[in-house]
Amino acid sequence: MDVFGLLGNPVGHSLSPPMHDAAYEELGLEARYVTFEPEPSEIEDAIDGAEALGITGLNVTIPFKQDVLDCVEADDLATRIGAVNTIDFTGEGAPTGHNTDAVGALRALRDHGVTVDGARAVVVGAGGAGRAVAFGLADAGATVEIANRTASKARDLADEVPGATGHGLEADTLADLLADADVLVNATSVGMEEDETPVPAAALHSDLAVLDAVYRPLETRLLRDAAAAGATTVDGAWMLLYQGVEAFELWTGREAPVDAMNAALRDRL
Ligand code: ATR
Repeated sequence: MDVFGLLGNPVGHSLSPPMHDAAYEELGLEARYVTFEPEPSEIEDAIDGAEALGITGLNVTIPFKQDVLDCVEADDLATRIGAVNTIDFTGEGAPTGHNTDAVGALRALRDHGVTVDGARAVVVGAGGAGRAVAFGLADAGATVEIANRTASKARDLADEVPGATGHGLEADTLADLLADADVLVNATSVGMEEDETPVPAAALHSDLAVLDAVYRPLETRLLRDAAAAGATTVDGAWMLLYQGVEAFELWTGREAPVDAMNAALRDRL
């Protein structure tokens, strides 16, 4: 029996257990996915304990993604992002740390027919999600513009991301950036609590693909505006799905049953 799990605090509302359990069931794997809520001061002990108990893999979520970086052998992308969301215990040596949020965003876009290599991409947000998406897009060959309410954070992140430029979130700045952009990603929390959007509807157009990392609700105001403008829309459940798909494939070495995982996720959203 393989045991997988999620480290976070709180983790009660996580959709990862049903999503991964659906994958095990679909492939007939003897495995379970469980949640753990260690205290922040216990995170290193938790990872050592997981290794000692023979746990196969762990996902990591708020508030531990940055702390875990120092407890594992993080790969290059996770190190640059500064956050680990997947720990793999299957190797011979120390547990390895990865960030599948970045690839999750890329796969969500590609799944909707979007070419990322050579694309002009605007990432709104420069927090944890914005970092992962910006590095992922740049690694995949996109030119990245980062816009953030706190413009200095966008510029600081842009200094780290190859070829990127940082901006504020003013309406005319966004309109200029989006006029000749191919991809827009909302990596802020705007749209989660209130029916609001970080991007004025007038800046959207039909040559854009718009990915919203927000998945509660699935139909954000940004995505409704994008659909009305004739843009391709990709909701946040796709990004959540593909970060899980990537983690599953990393741990098991098998192709993930994407449809079963997607159905389990969307059943609960
Ligand atoms: P996450 O890990 O989900 O990215 P985070 O690191 O707290 O969370 O980052 C939240 C992001 O949403 C930031 O880019 C934040 O902008 P600031 O850096 O200026 O704080 C952005 N954000 C949150 N509320 C916002 C709002 N009302 N308008 C615009 N941006 C907002």
